[in-house]
Amino acid sequence: MLRRLHPDQPASFAFTPANQAWAEAQITKYPEGRQASAIIPLLWRAQEQEGWLTRPAIEHIADMLGMAYIRALEVATFYFMFQLQPVGSVAHFQVCGTLSCMICGAEKLIEVCKAKIAPRAHMLSADGKFSWEEVECLGACSNAPMVQIGKDYYEDLTAENFAQLIDDLAAGKVPTAGPQNGRFASEPLGGATTLTDFTGEAQNGSVALATRHGDTIKRIDGTEVPLLTPWQDKPAKASKRKVTAKTIKDHEPKPALSTPVDETGVSKQEAQATKKGNPKPAAKGAKAADAQPQMLKAPKGKADDLKKLKGVGPKLEGVLNDLGVFHFWQVAAWTDDDVVWVDERLKFKGRIERDGWIEQAKILAEGGETEFSKRAK
Ligand code: FES
Repeated sequence: MLRRLHPDQPASFAFTPANQAWAEAQITKYPEGRQASAIIPLLWRAQEQEGWLTRPAIEHIADMLGMAYIRALEVATFYFMFQLQPVGSVAHFQVCGTLSCMICGAEKLIEVCKAKIAPRAHMLSADGKFSWEEVECLGACSNAPMVQIGKDYYEDLTAENFAQLIDDLAAGKVPTAGPQNGRFASEPLGGATTLTDFTGEAQNGSVALATRHGDTIKRIDGTEVPLLTPWQDKPAKASKRKVTAKTIKDHEPKPALSTPVDETGVSKQEAQATKKGNPKPAAKGAKAADAQPQMLKAPKGKADDLKKLKGVGPKLEGVLNDLGVFHFWQVAAWTDDDVVWVDERLKFKGRIERDGWIEQAKILAEGGETEFSKRAK
């Protein structure tokens, strides 16, 4: 298939301030001279902001990364995830038409697209809300047939529930992503035979996250919680403050931008990272150590059963008790710095946030129950 730039292009492109800050932070992941590695996340962010990838956007990103325009164009035109023409303002459907999906009914989904959206791929619907295309295998073959919208997969579709999904989107709803036939993930249709602990959840992890963000069809516009440079040991949630260009300047190491690698082939950032006694990480560790959450020598009255928190088993409960954590109200009160402090001692980085301990603890501390605590009983 020919992938060419659309003949009608806007005059210019600019990231929103928050997206610009995010993009600059992405570049700090890479050592000097290798900023081009950030091309795909930056192109994707531009597409999420605008809906499709315009030529000014591709060139703007090439400039940010010190790349020749043709190199950025090669990437943008190679990957089908990048839309080179305007797409529906609400959703662009990528319908998988490869073997498993074709056998399981992809042709019927394409008929729905033709009937409800537009007769040909990449055409906008009459109201401009939708567009569609057929794509190659998206790797969800065990949940065939399926459709991708933005970042999310809608799986186990039928002509009927797919038509309903389009109607829901047209009505301004954000349908829940994932399997549409009640499956938790890609377990057998007759029910899970292993890992049965997890299938009682309403949704699997990635679907739950998409639902929580409500972002399947939402354009990324900078109103999201900024996820700046967690790879520099900053918790993602730490940045509730407004992100400005100055915020990014404060992050160390500075964005490498277009500085070339030195003649030894070792970048300044690599050298800094391996230097004995690197002062920066030590300073961060020291700061986290200072921010110790409220710990108890002994439980106040009867200790809570911390195993009611999803992700806490007997072993972790013991570790928490040894640290001085006995009650849900203690966990519920943790700040971002407290989470960093506890995380370091549990040696399971990110687990507290991933499993939502604080949200669960707030409910349990007030005498409520979570889905997990009900099952844990
Ligand atoms: S064949 Fe459709 S996802 Fe693989």
